[in-house]
Amino acid sequence: MYISRSNGEFRMVRSAVGGGVTDKRIVIVGAGGHGRVIAGVLRSQGMHVLGFVDPDPCIKGKMIDGMPILGGDDVLLDMNPGETFLVNAIGAVRDTVRRRAVGERLTKLGFAWVGCIHSRASVDSGAKLMGDVQIMAGAIIQGGTAVGAQVVVNTGAVVDHDCLVGGYCHIATGATLAGGVVLGRGVLVGAGAVIIQNIQVGENAVVAAGAVVVSNVSPGVMVAGVPAVIKKTLVGY
Ligand SMILES: CC(C)(COP(=O)(O)OP(=O)(O)OC[C@H]1O[C@@H](n2cnc3c(N)ncnc32)[C@H](O)[C@@H]1OP(=O)(O)O)[C@@H](O)C(=O)NCCC(=O)NCCS
Repeated sequence: MYISRSNGEFRMVRSAVGGGVTDKRIVIVGAGGHGRVIAGVLRSQGMHVLGFVDPDPCIKGKMIDGMPILGGDDVLLDMNPGETFLVNAIGAVRDTVRRRAVGERLTKLGFAWVGCIHSRASVDSGAKLMGDVQIMAGAIIQGGTAVGAQVVVNTGAVVDHDCLVGGYCHIATGATLAGGVVLGRGVLVGAGAVIIQNIQVGENAVVAAGAVVVSNVSPGVMVAGVPAVIKKTLVGY
């Protein structure tokens, strides 16, 4: 029930990047640290990355690892959505709100999204992934797990068997979901956090870096500590 199908049916990302996408140009939305990592993965897979867009006017024209920052999102209005794929590289260090807003806005303009799997990530053949998920180096996703639209499973994170990960979740570097964990849409699991087996975490909740979650988490709250307790309720809840 938590998994978004708004961007199409579940399919393996490897087949998405292997057929039809390589001949299209790709624009990375967000020129921060996450964008740089994404660019590295795409480049290593021979994808044609046109450059980045980013709302910060001060960085227009600069280069990141040889790829240009083209300007703000307005640059996309001059591009044909039929010829350009986007990658959502808006990071999430406090919540996933902006990442999700950007994703939904540009989808409405007709753009399609592409994901990426680092060559040193491990994805079990029994896992179901949306085409636009981002799975970074050293991440592991086990069988029976389903991962929704524009999810990030960041460097070294582990999503074990039979988890459900809702659209726009960000599982930060080194975090671990034990088996059977369910994340609602837009959950941020901070770096190094651990969520033990069969826990449910509600939509847009935030699990602080280093937390150990041993009981269910309500939507829209931030939990932290070992064991994790509610620290605050987020705006809008
Ligand atoms: C959870 C997080 C978003 C909270 O940030 P914030 O909203 O600015 O939090 P606040 O500073 O208002 O802190 C609220 C309370 O939570 C505590 N807290 C915040 N982060 C904590 C953490 N990681 N562990 C333990 N307690 C934490 C604060 O000490 C404070 O406690 P108090 O009310 O008892 O004084 C942030 O700490 C975090 O962990 N972000 C994830 C970063 C990350 O994973 N980066 C890598 C991305 S790949």
